[in-house]
Amino acid sequence: MNNFWLKLKKSKRGHPILTLAPMADVTDGAFREIIAKYGKPDVFWTEFVSADGLVLAPKKGQIRLLEVLKFSKKEKPIVAQLFGSNPANMEKAAALVEKLGFDGLDINMGCPDRSIEKQNSGAAMIKNPTLAKEIIAAAMRGAQKIPISVKIRLGYNQDILEEWLMQILAMNPAMVTVHARTRKEMSKVPARWDRIKDAVKIRDALKSPTLIFGNGDVISIKDAKQKAKQTGCDGVMIGRGIFGKPWFFSGKNPDLKKRLKILIEHIRLFDKLIQHKNFAVMRKHFKAYVEGFDGAKELRRELMETNSAGEAIGVLANFIKTL
Ligand SMILES: Cc1cc2nc3c(=O)[nH]c(=O)nc-3n(C[C@H](O)[C@H](O)[C@H](O)COP(=O)(O)O)c2cc1C
Repeated sequence: MNNFWLKLKKSKRGHPILTLAPMADVTDGAFREIIAKYGKPDVFWTEFVSADGLVLAPKKGQIRLLEVLKFSKKEKPIVAQLFGSNPANMEKAAALVEKLGFDGLDINMGCPDRSIEKQNSGAAMIKNPTLAKEIIAAAMRGAQKIPISVKIRLGYNQDILEEWLMQILAMNPAMVTVHARTRKEMSKVPARWDRIKDAVKIRDALKSPTLIFGNGDVISIKDAKQKAKQTGCDGVMIGRGIFGKPWFFSGKNPDLKKRLKILIEHIRLFDKLIQHKNFAVMRKHFKAYVEGFDGAKELRRELMETNSAGEAIGVLANFIKTL
C-alpha cells in the first residue's frame, strides 16, 4: 500500500501537514484548481460523495457523482471522501476511488445533515461504532493500494472522544481528522482544540501509527502552526478559512484588484468545468470574495442578481475599471 501520508509526514520535518477540508458545493473542481494555482495545500479533498449512489444510482445519477470526483493533476495529492452505511457498496465505491487515481480515501463520519443521517451515514455513525468499523473494513478491502482515513467529531450529543476514537483507531486507518466539536454543537461553539491534544494522547497511549489531524476554526497558516504545536497533532485541516481566499495556503494577501481578477478566473473555470451544478452555487463565493472594501456591499448585491458567468464577469470588469 502506498501510504502517502507517512511520506508527507517525513518530508515536512516536524511541520504540520495542511489539508483543504471537504466542503460540499464549495470545494468543487473549479475552486480547487484556483486554490492549486494561488496557494496549494499539502493535500486536497473532494466534496463528499455517496458510496450507495456511486454503486446503485441509475446511469444519469452516476455520471453526476463521477463529475464530483473529477480532478486534475495539479490537485495531487488528492483524497476522495465518501459517505455510506452499506459495507458492500462502500467496498465497491472504494475500489472505484482507487481506480480513478486518488491518493487516498476518506470516510465521512461527522456530517450533521439530516438527509445524510437518515441514511445512517455521516454523524449517525457515532451511534453505531460496530457499523462504523465494518464500513472502514469494507473501504480497506475495496481500496487496498491507497490509505484509508476517517473524519470524525468528538461525539454525538456528548463528547465521547475517548471511546469513539479508540474504536476508530482499532481499525488502523492511516489518519483521522478530528473536527473538535460534537454533532449537537454543529459549528456553533468554538472548536475545542484541547481535545485535539487529548486525541494525540489517546493515539500515543495505544501506540497506534495513525496520524491525528485537528480541524475547526483555523483562520491562518500561523494559527494552524500554533495549534499543531500546542496539541502535537500531525496536521491541520482548514475549511471556512479559505472562503473567498484561495490564496490562503500561500500565506500572502493579494490586493483588491488582483483578488477580483482571481474571482473572474474562478467564475470562468466554474462555467467550464462544473456544468452539473447551478450557477447559483457561485453566490456563496461572491459573498466571501466581495467583502471588506469600499463599495463591496453594492458590488455584492449586483453580483447576487446575476444568473450566468458572462453577466457576473461583466459586473466585476466594470467595477475593476473604477479601481
Ligand atoms: C459549506 C460546507 C460544506 C461542508 N461539506 C463537508 C463535506 O462534504 N464533508 C465533510 O467531511 N465535512 C464537510 N464540512 C465540514 C468541514 O469539512 C469542516 O469540518 C468544518 O467546516 C470545520 O472546519 P472549519 O472551521 O475550518 O471550517 C462542510 C462545511 C461547510 C461549511
